[in-house]
Amino acid sequence: MARDEWDPRNLPDLSGRSYLVTGATRGLGYFSCEQLAGAGAHVFLTGRNPNRLVTAKAAVKRTHPDASVETLLLDTSNLGSVRAAAATVRARGRLHGLLMNAGIVHPPKTRELAGGHEKVFATNVLGHFALAGELLKPLASARGRMVWVGSMSTSIWTHVPTDPELREGYTPWRAYVQSKAATTALALEADRRLRAHSVPVESLVAHPGYSTSGRTRGIRGVNEPTRLTRFVDNLQAPFTQSKDEGAWALVRALVDPLAEGGSMYGPALVARGVPRSATPARRTRDSALGADLWRACETGTHVRWPFERVRRTAS
Ligand SMILES: NC(=O)c1ccc[n+]([C@@H]2O[C@H](COP(=O)([O-])OP(=O)(O)OC[C@H]3O[C@@H](n4cnc5c(N)ncnc54)[C@H](OP(=O)(O)O)[C@@H]3O)[C@@H](O)[C@H]2O)c1
Repeated sequence: MARDEWDPRNLPDLSGRSYLVTGATRGLGYFSCEQLAGAGAHVFLTGRNPNRLVTAKAAVKRTHPDASVETLLLDTSNLGSVRAAAATVRARGRLHGLLMNAGIVHPPKTRELAGGHEKVFATNVLGHFALAGELLKPLASARGRMVWVGSMSTSIWTHVPTDPELREGYTPWRAYVQSKAATTALALEADRRLRAHSVPVESLVAHPGYSTSGRTRGIRGVNEPTRLTRFVDNLQAPFTQSKDEGAWALVRALVDPLAEGGSMYGPALVARGVPRSATPARRTRDSALGADLWRACETGTHVRWPFERVRRTAS
C-alpha cells in the first residue's frame, strides 16, 4: 500500500491495544469508538453524562457484540473530573492512544464561564491539555499517540487565538474557531516538546471535514436527527459526509502505523472523503503562538506535562 493510501473500512488488527476517546456519547467520538472497538481495541468511552454513556456503550455492543468497551465519566470543562478520569486510566498502566474529540460545537450566544475560564476554551482546549499531560506516562509506556481534533474552519476564518479567553469581542463563532486554532497550535507545540524531551509519544492533528448528523445512520439515544435536520443536511450532500465517515480521519491519525508526530489527517476532498494527509492552517504552525498558548494552558490548568520524569521512566 502506498504511503498515503488507507482503507478506513479495513483497519489493522488493534487487539491488545487500548484507546481513550473524549466526547464519545454521540457524533464523531461515538463513531470513532465503534471503529476502534470493531478492530479489536479496548476502548475507554468517556463522557460527561452517565446515562448517555450507558446508551452509547450498548449501541457499540449492538454493532460489535464482542467489543471490549468500558465507560468513564470525564467532563472536559471540569479539571477535577479530568484528573479523576486520568487517575483511573493511569492505574491500568499502558494507553496506546488518546483521541481528544469532545467539544462545544454550538457555543453560547454570550460569553459564559466554566471553572473560571471562557467555557468553549475550557471545554475544547484546557481540559484536553490537562488530560494529555495527566496521561503522558501511560501513553509513553505504550509508545502511544495523542490526536487533537481541529477543524477546516481554521483555514477559512482568520481568528488567531492571541486572547484565548476572549475577554474582548466574544462571538460564538469566534470562540469556536479560536478554540480549534488553539487546539491545532497546541498539537504541533506538543509534538515539538515531546521530540525535544525524547518522550516516545506522538502528537498529531485530525479534522473530520464537514460531517452532519442528518447524513448519519440513526442510532437510538446516540444519533436521532429530526426529519427537518435530515432534509436540510441532505440538501448539503455534495459537500458533507456522515459522522461515521468523519471519524475515519480521526481514527487514521490514531492508528495508522506510518503516521508521524506533527502531521495532520483530514478528508481527501477537504469537507468529505477518505482520510489523507492534510496541512494545518499557516498561523497554527507558528511556534511563538504555540509557546504562548502552552503557557496560557499551564497557567489555566496548573498542569505541567511531566516530560523529564516520563522520559526517565520510559528509557
Ligand atoms: N461535525 C463536524 O463537521 C466537525 C467539523 C470540524 C471539527 N469538528 C470537531 O469534532 C468534535 C466532535 O464534533 P461532533 O460533530 O461529533 O459534535 P457533537 O455531535 O456535538 O458531539 C460532541 C461530543 O462532545 C461531548 N461534549 C461536549 N461538551 C463536553 C464536556 N464538557 N465534557 C465531555 N464531553 C463533552 C458531547 O457530549 P454530550 O453527549 O454529553 O453532549 C458529545 O459527545 C468537536 O471537537 C468538533 O469541534 C466537528
